[in-house]
Amino acid sequence: MNNLLTVESLDENEILSLIERALAFKQGEAPRKFQDKTVVNLFFENSTRTRMSFEMAEFRLGIHAIPFDADTSSVQKGESLYDTCKTLEAIGADVLVIRHGDTRYFDTLGDVNVPIVNGGDGSGSHPTQCLLDLMTIYENFGRFKGLRVAISGDISHSRVAHSNYQALTKLGAEVYFSGPREWQDPGFEEAYIDFDEAVETCDVLMLLRVQHERHFVQMTFSKEGYNAEYGLNPARYEKMKDEAIIMHPAPVNRDVEISSELVEAEKSRIFSQMQNGVYMRMSILENILKEKN
Ligand code: CP
Repeated sequence: MNNLLTVESLDENEILSLIERALAFKQGEAPRKFQDKTVVNLFFENSTRTRMSFEMAEFRLGIHAIPFDADTSSVQKGESLYDTCKTLEAIGADVLVIRHGDTRYFDTLGDVNVPIVNGGDGSGSHPTQCLLDLMTIYENFGRFKGLRVAISGDISHSRVAHSNYQALTKLGAEVYFSGPREWQDPGFEEAYIDFDEAVETCDVLMLLRVQHERHFVQMTFSKEGYNAEYGLNPARYEKMKDEAIIMHPAPVNRDVEISSELVEAEKSRIFSQMQNGVYMRMSILENILKEKN
């Protein structure tokens, strides 16, 4: 793998092999060390999980991680993302991990000769989140084929929903969307199911955060109203299938898309997803760096 920009670029075997390697790390397999390698983590948008778990993965692989602070960099003097990346290429970075607010920011970086791992692009995609989600599903069910997965919430602004829909469909799962009709992507009407149907019939219920920061048009929104209509609350939890799991990329809006007391419920895999994120990012970085040797 030379870059990881979207999950669409990965075939089924590549996805399964990244998952198997991440699961092996989780089961205690010692990682190969890359002490002579450097990764620069460029986060132009806020992040806790993605950024910290990349740093943890880099530490466990023996990589030297160079933090990048956009606020104190020459980006503030107007330097473009392309020139920033070419600068890091010139000084010898081996991999760039980039989160940026522009959807498909990487389209401008075709002439950068350093592998890029997309840490999230605007409302476009979030491939490392997708892969850790896939790992979490595979860890629980041992398969994708035939699983019913519902992704519910702010679909149109979600890079997680777009990546997961593509990958899970490729792997043989039945993927549905739910949540407010006005937040659905046009063209996916046939995949829409009512939220209560999603709760009662799906093996994986993936809840998404309401992304207030991406709702540029003023809208009326009530937390209580959303929770009553589209939130997972204790009454709905009781109606889930016995083996079903709850996922959420986090951060969670407690008592909006999920009642606070359910965030750590037995069926919840929200914190397992975060833990799996470290192993999956180790697997991704190892895969890219071994190609460079
Ligand atoms: N899930 C996720 O991408 O979280 P962060 O924004 O905290 O990285």
